[in-house]
Amino acid sequence: MLKRFARYPLTFGPTPVEKLDRLGKHLGGKVEIYAKREDCNSGLAFGGNKLRKLEYIIPDAIASDADTLVTIGGVQSNHTRMVAAVAAKVGMKCLLVQGSWVPHDDAVYDRVGNILLSRIMGAEVRLVDEGFDIGISQSWKKALYDVKAGGGRPYAIPAGASVHKYGGLGYVGFAEEVRAQEKQLGFAFDDLILASASTGMVGPMRRSVLDGRAGLTEFSRKQMRHLPDAVVSAFTRKPYTRSRLA
Ligand SMILES: Cc1ncc(COP(=O)(O)O)c(C=O)c1O
Repeated sequence: MLKRFARYPLTFGPTPVEKLDRLGKHLGGKVEIYAKREDCNSGLAFGGNKLRKLEYIIPDAIASDADTLVTIGGVQSNHTRMVAAVAAKVGMKCLLVQGSWVPHDDAVYDRVGNILLSRIMGAEVRLVDEGFDIGISQSWKKALYDVKAGGGRPYAIPAGASVHKYGGLGYVGFAEEVRAQEKQLGFAFDDLILASASTGMVGPMRRSVLDGRAGLTEFSRKQMRHLPDAVVSAFTRKPYTRSRLA
């Protein structure tokens, strides 16, 4: 199915599946845990899950004759960092709207990490006060308007590259890859456990990879802040309740 869609290669190819023996032992030795190393998927700005989506979005941006990628995320968004990297790679400009999505006290929160990398890669970074919103926010609309008003040709990429007509295709590809790797390994995974924020990763996976297997645990943004405990509870099947997340 994916062959019908244009893809701009940004990743190295299938990501390795690595067995995490010590984590399995730590959890009592009754589970075997493997990690699909999406963090090693590219040499571009530390890679990660957003690149799979952007591989299917960039051909549309190029075809539309855009000269500026415009997107939105939190101050330390991985997604905005990857859009900055991809813009630099394909020779476009980049405007990033970075909202106040996550409360923070750290004095240098907006000057280090992902946002620093985006600046180094040449993106224009716009800090705004708007809270979490993966929809079409005022500040994002204004950014698109400003690029046009300045004579540029913007291409809009929604938060997390998710609510975009081609964004989900990347994780259809991931699902196909997992199936092929299961064949090579000679067994199928019982559970697939992943983090979910804008849902662009989990949506296509639900359709393509679940295939009636036992279950799929998703972690919400809130849970992601407590990830170690949430992950342990997913593997050991002990309930991880909302009250523990407060
Ligand atoms: C490293 C990482 N993993 C998983 C996710 C969740 O992906 P999605 O936005 O497609 O739900 C994100 C996005 O915030 C992320 O940065």
